[in-house]
Amino acid sequence: MNILAIGDIVGDAGTEMFLSNIDELKRQYAVDFCIVNGENACTGNGISRKKAEQLLEGGADVLTMGNHTFRQKEAAGLLAHNERIIRPLNYPAGTPGRGAYVYNAGGVRIGVVNLLGRIYMDYLDCPFQAVDKALESLKADLIFVDFHAEATSEKISMGWYLDGRVTAMFGTHTHVQTADAWVLPKGTGYITDLGMTGPIYSCLGVKKEITLERFKTCIPQRFEFADGKSRLCGALFCVDEATGKTLEVKSICLM
Ligand SMILES: [Fe+2]
Ligand SMILES: [Fe+2]
Repeated sequence: MNILAIGDIVGDAGTEMFLSNIDELKRQYAVDFCIVNGENACTGNGISRKKAEQLLEGGADVLTMGNHTFRQKEAAGLLAHNERIIRPLNYPAGTPGRGAYVYNAGGVRIGVVNLLGRIYMDYLDCPFQAVDKALESLKADLIFVDFHAEATSEKISMGWYLDGRVTAMFGTHTHVQTADAWVLPKGTGYITDLGMTGPIYSCLGVKKEITLERFKTCIPQRFEFADGKSRLCGALFCVDEATGKTLEVKSICLM
């Protein structure tokens, strides 16, 4: 089977880039299931009901989130009621929503788990302990983990921790695609970061003039997403549903 994972959709430009390319991508790579990180889909970050509908109806099978999960007011209600939108599993007990989702694709159970890193991020529960617990109870033939984290070291360590235990782990959050898509020795597909799906002439999706001003003056600025020409970043995992392992990983970057 071919599973496509797409990195952080940034604002309207990123949404439009996803919607206008996903059908062709699915055809080209015979995609069976599509995971999309939607934590920056709204202006001002986070996810809204409208954006979730656009992405889910437009071609995403499940939306993962990250540190911006609850940025929009309606997110808590949305996540509590829609099992196809998941938030990091390692939020404290009682947080609205779920950290994992299992989809039945013609008899093959595809599990998706979302985790948040702790280095330079909000200090949530330990993602390593959280994923251990999830793997004990998750009934799935294939398991994909979106590890939303800042530090490459934490993501690489998680990759080694999960090698042979999940089908694939991909990182999100940094918005810059890494050139390390490969299959770990025990059969887990891996990439440190998928990169973003959003405006090219920007700083990680934000108007470059604003971030530049922030760095030059050290005065906080109100961030606004850039618009215009976008790139779409992600990775395609070719997997063996009989063994639950990844056979091949291909990074994808469309402009
Ligand atoms: Fe993030
Ligand atoms: Fe992001």
